[in-house]
Order: sequence, then C-alpha cells, then structure tokens
Amino acid sequence: MKRIPFNRISLAGREQEYMADAIRNGHISGDGKYTRRVEELLQIACDSPRVLLTGSCTHALEMCALLLDIVPGDEVLVPSFTFPTSAGAFVLRGAKPVFVDIRADTLNIDESLIEERITSRSRAIVVPHYAGVGSEMDAIIDIAQRHRLYVIEDNAQGIFARYRGRPLGSIGDFGAVSFHETKNFTCGEGGALVINRREFIDRAEVIREKGTDRNRFLRGEVDKYTWVDLGSSYVLSDLLAAFLLAQLEQREEIMGRRRSIWNRYFHELSGWSESVGVSLPCVPDHCEQSYHSFHSLMPSDVERESFIGDLNARGVQAQSHYEPLHLSKMGMSFGYRKGDLPVTESVSSRIVRLPFYSGLGEEEQSQVIENVMAAQLK
Ligand SMILES: Cc1ncc(COP(=O)(O)O)c(C=O)c1O
Repeated sequence: MKRIPFNRISLAGREQEYMADAIRNGHISGDGKYTRRVEELLQIACDSPRVLLTGSCTHALEMCALLLDIVPGDEVLVPSFTFPTSAGAFVLRGAKPVFVDIRADTLNIDESLIEERITSRSRAIVVPHYAGVGSEMDAIIDIAQRHRLYVIEDNAQGIFARYRGRPLGSIGDFGAVSFHETKNFTCGEGGALVINRREFIDRAEVIREKGTDRNRFLRGEVDKYTWVDLGSSYVLSDLLAAFLLAQLEQREEIMGRRRSIWNRYFHELSGWSESVGVSLPCVPDHCEQSYHSFHSLMPSDVERESFIGDLNARGVQAQSHYEPLHLSKMGMSFGYRKGDLPVTESVSSRIVRLPFYSGLGEEEQSQVIENVMAAQLK
C-alpha cells in the first residue's frame, strides 16, 4: 500500500521557467519584476493599497510589531491555539502575550472573551484565521475601535478566503500571509505584509529594507539611500517571487482542487463522524474558506493518540496540530498555568489533521477515507 504523506509540495507548472527568466534578467535579489507582479496581484486580491513580499509570515508579523512601536510592557491579545510567532513576533519587542481562549466551533479566537482581557497596556489584537476560516471580524473590529487597539490578521493560512464577502487580511490594520511549503501557495519560505492603512506604507518599506530608504532611492526620490529608522532584512528574493508567481497564477485551479478534496472528505466522513462522536470542521455560512487543511476533533485525547497511531501504521500520515502556547516553556514564563484556557487545552489534545495537499489524487483520497473509517479509536 502506498504511504500517503501529510503534505507534499505541488508544482503549478511554470516555476522553473519564471526562475530561469529571473536569472537570465540578472535580478535575483528583492524588489525585481517578479516581486512587483506578485505584489500587484495580491493588492488586487486583498483589496489593499500596499502589499510587501517578505521572507515569511513571521517576518510580516515582526514588521507589524515594529510599525506599531511595541515596547516592553505593552500587551498583545492573541489566542494560545496558534503558531508560536503569532505571539513571538511581538514578544521579540518586549510585549506580554495575553492569551485568549478560542471558540469550540471554528477554533478561532473567542471574540466574547477579548474585552475582559483588555487593560491600559493593551496595544493590539492578533487574529489568526484557523484553517483559513475567518474569525468573527465584525465583533473584533468593534472591540478594537472602542478600545483604540490595532488589529493584525494572522492570515498565514487564509489567502483568498473571505469573511462576509471581504478578503481575509484586508479587514484589520494589517494582514500577514505565509507562503511556507505547507501552505496552499508556496515558494518554500515566504510571506507578505498586507497594509490596509496608507499612513504605514512608507515606514513599512523602510523597516523591510534594513531601516534604510532604499525604496525611495530606487524610485529616484532621493539621490542616495541611508539609515533612517529601525528595520531588518525582510525582503524576499525575486527568485522566490518568480516561483510564487507561477503558483499564484494558477490560483483558481489550485483552489478548485483543494475544494473538491475538502468536500469529498467532509461528505464521505460525515456519517462515520456522527456515529463515533467525532466532529468535522465548522465553516460558518458567512465565511468562504481557503481550503487550507482538514481536521477533526476526537472525543478524547486517548482516542486521538490511538487514532493517529493506527492511521500512521496503515500508511496514512495524520497529524495533531498546535500545542497550547500558554503551556509552552515560553508561555509559562509569563505566568500561565494548566486550566487557564480550557477550550484551547481540550481542542489541542483532541485535534487530528488528515493528509491534505493540492496534488492529493482521487485514489489517495479514497485510501485516506477508508482508513479513517477503519482506524481504531480505542
Ligand atoms: C497561524 C500562523 N501564523 C504564522 C505562521 C508562520 O509562518 P511562516 O513560516 O511563513 O513564518 C504559521 C505557520 O504555519 C501559522 O500557521
């Protein structure tokens, strides 16, 4: 029986051609022709005045922390059920992460719990859209406006998804996107900062270019470039932008393939899930998802371990997901303890993700589905 990996990169077709073209053109550092084309494509898709390609989603989040002048003692509200750098990018500037529990249905930040965690030191809310399903942005933006907080959408997984018709990443002050190998569209390692407020554009360009005004120099606005602000090396190589453009140009087809795999898993596993007390993903009607991944919640942690172990023995590489940040070594150093965020703790001990990638063929899908229904839960 063929082993089915959890993830496998899928090529869209023109990656090598575009990369060879970038090499022939002699421009392989950042901000070349391919960077411009990808940024323009994303600006239209995200309905944003400016998108900057970065080395990763983490870099885009770090840029947000710099743009917001986060200083030691500031507080940033963020779920604990997320990737470490959703919090870590702000902790790097001295912020304290204030962890908020998640909703049991979408696994996104529980908007009803945000307000009680706000203090005079709160500066921003970081909002990941788990599996590319939108968080409750209307309520979150309302809270942020009333308390004068910034909103950063951690849209690592949700490019091209929508919330009430609006592109994810375009609703908060900033959006951060990932093009890591595990994402729907990739260039290996890469990301983007979506800037939704024009007043941040100039400074973001400086921060991304090592604290220099090199972008103004390249546009002929100054005759030499110098060190003007804080910053770091957050630019993506044009070689990687060339790879990424090839992927993004095929977005309709790639999204279509992912949609059909997701729908097939959902429909063919729904009878099984009900009969064994497993829940499948929840996608509210007002959210158009990105079809990033497919997860289910087992009745208990013991059943999750047995299920993953048995599926792996059957050649289907299923995986758990985020470990709660508040119970990590770093999280606990901020004083968090077991029991602080009950939904997060329960979900992270019961979640299972199935193999899911654009190139997952129909036979492999059948193999996953058959083995899921046959795997031991106890
Ligand atoms: C929610 C979230 N934020 C941030 C990241 C980090 O992305 P990157 O590897 O592009 O820095 C990830 C990666 O999986 C993620 O899932």
